[in-house]
Amino acid sequence: MNTFFPEKMNIYGKRERGLNMNRLLSFLLTSLAIASIFSFFLAYSPSSFPMTSKQALTSVQNQPDDDNPSHAVPVKMIPPPKKEAECDLFKGQWVPDLRGPLYTNSSCKSIPESKNCFKNGRMDRDFLNWKWKPEKCELPEFDPKAFLQIVRGKKMAFVGDSVARNHVESLLCLLSQEELPKDIYKDSEDRFRTWYFPQHDFTLMKLWSKYLIAADERMVNGTGSGVFDLHIDRIDYEWAKHLPGLDYAIISDGHWFFRVLYLYKGKKLIGCVYCNKPNITGLNTSNAVRMAFRSAFKYISNCKNCKGGLLTLLRTFAPAHFENGAWNTGGYCNRTSPLREAQVDFTKFDWEMRKIQIEEIEKARKEGKTVRVLDITRAMLMRPDGHPGLHWGNQWMKGYSDCVHWCMPGPVDYWNSFLMALIRN
Ligand SMILES: *[C@@H]1O[C@H](CO)[C@@H](O)[C@H](O)[C@H]1NC(C)=O
Ligand SMILES: *[C@@H]1O[C@H](CO)[C@@H](O)[C@H](O)[C@H]1NC(C)=O
Ligand SMILES: *[C@@H]1O[C@H](CO)[C@@H](O)[C@H](O)[C@H]1NC(C)=O
Ligand SMILES: *[C@@H]1O[C@H](CO)[C@@H](O)[C@H](O)[C@H]1NC(C)=O
Ligand SMILES: *[C@@H]1O[C@H](CO)[C@@H](O)[C@H](O)[C@H]1NC(C)=O
Repeated sequence: MNTFFPEKMNIYGKRERGLNMNRLLSFLLTSLAIASIFSFFLAYSPSSFPMTSKQALTSVQNQPDDDNPSHAVPVKMIPPPKKEAECDLFKGQWVPDLRGPLYTNSSCKSIPESKNCFKNGRMDRDFLNWKWKPEKCELPEFDPKAFLQIVRGKKMAFVGDSVARNHVESLLCLLSQEELPKDIYKDSEDRFRTWYFPQHDFTLMKLWSKYLIAADERMVNGTGSGVFDLHIDRIDYEWAKHLPGLDYAIISDGHWFFRVLYLYKGKKLIGCVYCNKPNITGLNTSNAVRMAFRSAFKYISNCKNCKGGLLTLLRTFAPAHFENGAWNTGGYCNRTSPLREAQVDFTKFDWEMRKIQIEEIEKARKEGKTVRVLDITRAMLMRPDGHPGLHWGNQWMKGYSDCVHWCMPGPVDYWNSFLMALIRN
């Protein structure tokens, strides 16, 4: 879940079961108050629609320049870059690639309903015909065989909110082309899950955390209010207790920070976000994100019983793409092809979130921890076409667009190409 769809009524699996009119009312009141706060960063300046992949491919082929990425000839697997310094995998462009996705909604049985965009009526397919091309090298195509070899005997966990879940769901579809995992554990709300790939002795986990640190939702008359108390000196132990067994921890979060938050250090209230109280220090979302990620990475840095080989990855903030409004004020995302870098506004909130997250994980690197940055923000800012939009098939929320999560298959699958590139060396 995220800011835009309060969890009690949404797309996060089965949460809508508990819905009643009181909750609806309190949610509507809260969202009215918060909507105005969101709109400033959700407002997305529409720019001219870019060409389709076929048009782009034609124009690329027509250019006599040999350096141009072209798929006119079959693409061979190109080995990963030798030295990280030579190539920034995350700086590049989306270029036409008519080979299509690595799985479909029939070859992957585990695509969740809410991301099965074609089943839910999405008609345009051009958004699948693009691949990420780093400026100075190639991003190797995801290879489930190779991936499972790398992670043989290992344990990997995705820590975060529903966008982290989206990431692991994409990985499951990609890997299931090679081996179907066993479902080992699933809680009633689909927040904590464990899969096991017996042929490769690989354990994959999804560990739910909205804020990474300890957080309590304020209750009003027995109902969640959507307002949270965050404890910046206490880790969210529900995920952290799993750290000692892990070989890979992929940390993310962000969408839950755009709401009213009260931050505490010990028992002391140190400030609040969007609360507008004259006697409390006013903080913004960025401040809260920094504190939470700092605490989480500090916890990992100090983890005594963690494996020596633990690799910590930060998956940077994944932008939402509501245009002409927020999720609850008519915002939508119906584009059908990517933007070019020049069309992206890097002064927006998303970019600041990314910067803060990276600054904080760099501190853990200085502490001697092995860390990597799975830096998807730039690439995904260019993919307003990758979201379910209206095609997410939730009857209850009909008419609302999901511009936060990502269609499967879709550009979200590239997060796993990046992941593979980062763990293979
Ligand atoms: C897959 O998508 C097609 C539309 O492209 C749809 O008709 C079909 O029901 C979907 N199948 C599954 C199993 O989701
Ligand atoms: C909580 O319940 C009391 C008593 O029923 C009512 O007076 C009050 O307005 C309620 N508060 C909220 C925020 O709904
Ligand atoms: C701020 O003021 C309100 C009402 O005036 C009071 O209830 C609250 O305890 C105060 N908070 C702090 C942190 O002083
Ligand atoms: C949040 O506050 C910090 C100062 O604490 C400021 O540098 C930053 O620009 C603010 N961010 C936003 C989005 O307002
Ligand atoms: C997207 O939706 C808006 C508003 O309904 C509409 O004006 C526009 O033509 C749509 N664009 C596409 C590509 O469907």
